[in-house]
This record gives sequence, structure tokens and C-alpha cells, in this order.
Amino acid sequence: MGNRYDGKNAMNVGGTLIAGPASGPLKGDIVVPGDKSMSHRSVMLASLADGVTEVHGFLPGEDNISTAQMFIDMGVNIEWLNDKKTSLRIHGVGLHGLKAPIGVLDAGNAGTCVRLMTGVLAGQDFASTISGDASLCKRPMQRVVAPVRRMGAKVEGGDGGNLLPLTIRGGKLKAIHHVSEVASAQVKSCVLLAGLYADGVTTLNEPKPTRDHTERMLPLFGQPVDVADDGTISLSPCDQLTAPKDAVHIPADPSSACFFAVAASLVEGSDITLKSIGINARRDGWRRVMHGMGANVTLLNESMVGKEPVADVRVRSGGLHALLVDPNDVPDAIDEFPVIFAAASLADGEFVLRDAEELRVKESDRIAVMADALRAAGADIAEKPDGAVIQGLASLAGGTDVDAHGDHRIAMAMVVAAQRAKSEIRIHNAAAIATSFPNFVSLAQRIGMNVRWENA
Ligand code: S3P
Repeated sequence: MGNRYDGKNAMNVGGTLIAGPASGPLKGDIVVPGDKSMSHRSVMLASLADGVTEVHGFLPGEDNISTAQMFIDMGVNIEWLNDKKTSLRIHGVGLHGLKAPIGVLDAGNAGTCVRLMTGVLAGQDFASTISGDASLCKRPMQRVVAPVRRMGAKVEGGDGGNLLPLTIRGGKLKAIHHVSEVASAQVKSCVLLAGLYADGVTTLNEPKPTRDHTERMLPLFGQPVDVADDGTISLSPCDQLTAPKDAVHIPADPSSACFFAVAASLVEGSDITLKSIGINARRDGWRRVMHGMGANVTLLNESMVGKEPVADVRVRSGGLHALLVDPNDVPDAIDEFPVIFAAASLADGEFVLRDAEELRVKESDRIAVMADALRAAGADIAEKPDGAVIQGLASLAGGTDVDAHGDHRIAMAMVVAAQRAKSEIRIHNAAAIATSFPNFVSLAQRIGMNVRWENA
């Protein structure tokens, strides 16, 4: 499978996938792993709580393991309750119980880990250094460094604190009102986590609402978060977080489900059901976009898992058509655009995405990298500074090599596109799918997608 991420500042390179075309319709029920965003937050809050928390449905991807390892490095006892690492028992040390780590805290490829941990580390009365792999070391950190500095933490890093590694000297913080320039749940969550250590009420506004898992999970640990009608989010001063009596259950990740949903939409005769997927409105933009493109997506068995709504999502193939994406849906589908671009390349008419410049600072520049890969595969896609314009075609030529640039979602999106190519696509630097979806290939094969690791 090539070089896997080795946790030592290496880029997530290596690993070639050979994908497509699908040889027949995709069929079956499928259970995708737990939500990545919620898995990060569950370990963070449980580690900082007084008492023992059990978490089930945890995503054992490399990104989430990095977060767990960080708390282990700061003295938290985390027991894995099964071999798959989907259930864990976290012995919280309380808000002020973390110990100074001996070495550098390694976030690997995980942007959510490093940005949220900046908030946690800002509240600690010891100094720590946090870093990550070569991809993460290029991503902008000023968006989280600026607010924690205003709260009183001392942060040093490359490019004035914009680049990893960051050295953070924290302690008791001042409460602030933060107006975020970017619609980013990572920024919001960093400020809220730092706010746990602040001397007053921390408040925040964001330009558009973003995923609200931190706001939903904090009350499970006894800390209310108020969201006013005008969108202002407030966190009152916190004495302690308390481990919940009941285990925390994490729903299946809509961002992972979306790859199979798009594949089933594209491959004629397909009919799949994705079980118990998170349908929180702040994560459900992909379904609104796919619905706008005419996809046949229905919800069954709606229920709640903890504070999060879930449903089984049934997807049947259907002719997709053009769409001008509503800018309000952009933050709610931000991680799904690589695979939505694949759908648009095979939809009828012109697809237009604007207001999505954030895609350029993800695990790769997802506008440029997807445009290159889809164009190599035969698609008609024009890059825009803040999005893309795609003229849909009946099929892609395929028969080409593309580069996922160590970005998990690019690799999986190209596997989906390849299902409707005339001949196979070889996707290089795809090993990073282990960061968010370690069993993607086996699940894809199970529903009938044509994909395998080279040399497997
Ligand atoms: C995440 C927020 C999003 C998303 C990322 C996970 C989170 O990033 O892209 O995969 O868990 O808070 P931004 O907040 O930077 O948009």
C-alpha cells in the first residue's frame, strides 16, 4: 500500500488506488464509521472532564488517534475497549489536570485536532509545542492563534504564528468577544474550548453558521452554551466539566457516507442504504446540493443519537442535472465538494460553485487539485478563485493517472468519479484515506464499486 503516514512530520504520501469503471449497479446496506468531528470533540471533552466517560462509535482514523494520543501524552488514561478502537473509556483529569507533555504534540494530518487543541493548550499553565505533518505545516493557523492571543495566551510559530509548529504558553485567560472572519467550526470550537478557562463570558459571531457539534456536546458534560436568535454564541465561565452518566454515542459520518451516496447516484440501477447517518442541518448541505441536482435521496427511520439527529439514507441512481450552489449551503457541505465536483462532472448541464475559497486551504487546495484530477480524467471543469464551473458529460474517458496529493477526500472522490469512467483511473498518493476512513476500500467493494489497492 506504499508509505503510510508515519506520524513523524511526513507528508501523507504513497499508496495507489486503481478504480473503476463499475461493472454493475451498487447494492446493499452499508455502515460507515463514526463522525470525525464528533470523535475529536468526545476525546477532548472527556479528557478535560472529572470522571470516566465511555465513547462508542468512535472513528479510529489516524486523525482521531492523533487527538487521543495527544491526551495520552498529557497524562490521560485512555482504554480501548475493542480491537477496532471504536469504543473507549476515558479517565478524565479535569480542566486543570493535564500534565506538560515531554515532547512535541503531533497532530499528524489533522487540522481539526491542531486548531481545537490550540484552544485547549491556551488554557494550560504549562508551555507546549504542537506540530503536524508536512501538509498541516502549510495550513493557516492565524485564525485560531489571533483569538487565543487576545485572550492572553503567548503563542510563537512560523510566519508570526500562522504556521506550525506552534509553542503555546497558556494559563488563566480573559473572556473575549470574537468575530470570526471565516465561517469555520474549528475557529469557533477553539474559542469555546479556550473559553472554558476564561474569567468571564466568552462570546462569538461567525459569518455563516457552521457545524455545531461542540455546542451540542458541551452540555452533555454539564456546560451549557447559549445561541441567541442573532447567532451570537455565549459560553459562561466554567468551574468544571463532568463526565456524563451515559456513554457518548457517535453517529456515522455524513462526510464519509457522501462518497457512496454520490457513487450510487451515478451508477445506473444502484440502490443502497447508508445506516444511521448524522443529518444535523449544519452537516447536511451535501444532501441539499444533491437534492438540488435531482438525486434520488430519501430519509428513513429518523431518530436521535444523544443530541444529534440521524437517519438511514437511501440512495437510488438517477439522472443528475445542473445547479448553481446556494452560498448558504457552502459551510454545510464544505468537506463534500470534492465528491460533489465528481457528481457535477457527470450531471446534465452547467454546475457553478462560488463563495468556497476555504476549499483552497484544506488538506490540499481542493479546487486546484480536483480540477487537475478531473480534467485529466476527461471532465470539463474551470477553476475559479472561489469555486468552479463544471460542464457535465455523459461519461469520463479515464485511462489516466491522477494525484490525490495526500488528501483523503480527493482520493475517495476520484474513486467515485472513476466508477463512471470508460477505463480505470490510477490514483496516486491515496494512503491518506486512513486519516478519516480506514475501511473505505473494503466497504466500497462490498457494495460493488470497482476499486483496489495496487499490490494488494
Ligand atoms: C471541522 C470543520 C471544518 C471541516 C473539517 C472538520 C470540525 O473545517 O472542513 O473537516 O470538525 O470542526 P473549518 O472549520 O476550517 O471549515
